[in-house]
Amino acid sequence: MGARVNLLRSLPTSKRNLQARKDGKSPEVVRISSEFGEMYFDGPREYGYGGYRYDGRWVSVARDIVEHFNLKPGDRVLDVGCAKGFLVKDLLSVCPGLEVFGIDVSTYALSRCEPEVIGRLHLGSADSLPFPDNSFSAVLSINTIHNLDRAGCVTALREMQRLAPGRGYVRVDSYATAEQRALFEDWVLTARFHDYPEGWATVFEEAGYTGDYDWTILE
Ligand SMILES: C[S@@+](CC[C@H](N)C(=O)[O-])C[C@H]1O[C@@H](n2cnc3c(N)ncnc32)[C@H](O)[C@@H]1O
Repeated sequence: MGARVNLLRSLPTSKRNLQARKDGKSPEVVRISSEFGEMYFDGPREYGYGGYRYDGRWVSVARDIVEHFNLKPGDRVLDVGCAKGFLVKDLLSVCPGLEVFGIDVSTYALSRCEPEVIGRLHLGSADSLPFPDNSFSAVLSINTIHNLDRAGCVTALREMQRLAPGRGYVRVDSYATAEQRALFEDWVLTARFHDYPEGWATVFEEAGYTGDYDWTILE
């Protein structure tokens, strides 16, 4: 296991309306959100993002990623769970010549990608990355692999490690206390596996994942 690093530290913190999410949640809402279609990205807030639009907030994250991995023009980077390609676009803009690609299960998101990334995004799942061993300088996956079950998370991390040994960055849902866990369980729509940091550490170990990581924790 690598180091815990907050590469998303420059993002603005958004205030989440936990009560509204709890009140609006039902098995049907969870089912529809988990399709990762229009309702999840651009439907009402109870189904997911409530509007997933480019606003430039990933530019500073992209800069921090380039610096963290010491990325250079010509290096290849993959964003697993790239959605509409916001981070792919911003990595391309902050490091011209970097070869950045994305993969996601959502046809809806991919077909509404930013114009700068057309042709760079693939349809596919984190647990089966269709690329050769050791073919990327860095593989990123932000708030995505927890949408698989535990076995799927292990496979996804193994895939990241296969593509870029020791040069991964994964961010997943977690909680440090029972209170944070209760808050998370009221909020969560799509995550199929989540755990305390120690539980995730076991998953990383089982996968042989030696890249870096961080937790998304609701407070
Ligand atoms: C919470 S969003 C995160 C999007 C983006 N990484 C970000 O941080 O803004 C989760 C993304 O994971 C995608 N996703 C869900 N399951 C996936 C899987 N098995 N493989 C790849 N992408 C997946 C969804 O379509 C969605 O785009």
